[in-house]
Amino acid sequence: MTRQAIVAANWKMNGSLDLVGQMSTALNELTIAENTKVVVCVPAPYLAAANVAFTHDAIGTGAQNLNENESGAFTGELSTSMLREFGAEYVIIGHSERRSIYGEGDALIAAKVDAALKAGLTPLFCVGESESERENNETEAVLESQIKPVLDLVGVEAFKNVVIAYEPVWAIGTGKTASPEMAQETHAFIRKYLAEADADMAAKVPLLYGGSMNAGNCENLLAQADIDGGLVGGASLKPEDFSVICKAAKGSI
Ligand code: PGA
Repeated sequence: MTRQAIVAANWKMNGSLDLVGQMSTALNELTIAENTKVVVCVPAPYLAAANVAFTHDAIGTGAQNLNENESGAFTGELSTSMLREFGAEYVIIGHSERRSIYGEGDALIAAKVDAALKAGLTPLFCVGESESERENNETEAVLESQIKPVLDLVGVEAFKNVVIAYEPVWAIGTGKTASPEMAQETHAFIRKYLAEADADMAAKVPLLYGGSMNAGNCENLLAQADIDGGLVGGASLKPEDFSVICKAAKGSI
């Protein structure tokens, strides 16, 4: 079974035009493995510049949020067509910071994934448990409760175009990484859960690990059978470190 590897940078509310320049200089030179994609999710104002700057065939750009409506009176929001017009191919949806700081719930996140798919954007759909949920052995129930509303709304066929990022909340920006074994175990659970809906879809969906992935730990994480890439925050702001992660990812062919 061939499965694409994806390394996605999540700049969050960081970066500058200068960083777009520095990062593209570093990444455009890279040898990126076959069936592997690098996606740089910049703050939306930098999309246009990023699409000019990143010239490597295996590098695309993404946004970090969208509004589920097509257009209208939604001050401050960004529509799928605007993101497309500025060259975004991917969009992060359901990041734990959107869930916890901006109160995004599973139904809204499902609507956003649906809107992205209908517009031809690939959703990088984020799921993950909190520290207390893991301690209480609720990880699997939490993941199911986050994935099910999306699967139910978009359906199995459309879900073949979704990328899932498993990001344990306790590992995001904390320097605490899930051990490769723990991450693999959770990824395998997600794939098994998806297989209950459709085995072919489950085998194809790229599952990315996120949470303090860096140049030092990426190799062991990416070596796991069900870890198909990473969603990288802090280390994606450092061209040298992010380059190491991009080179470590290898899609199966
Ligand atoms: P981190 O962030 O790599 O800084 O932990 C990951 C993310 O929030 O996507």
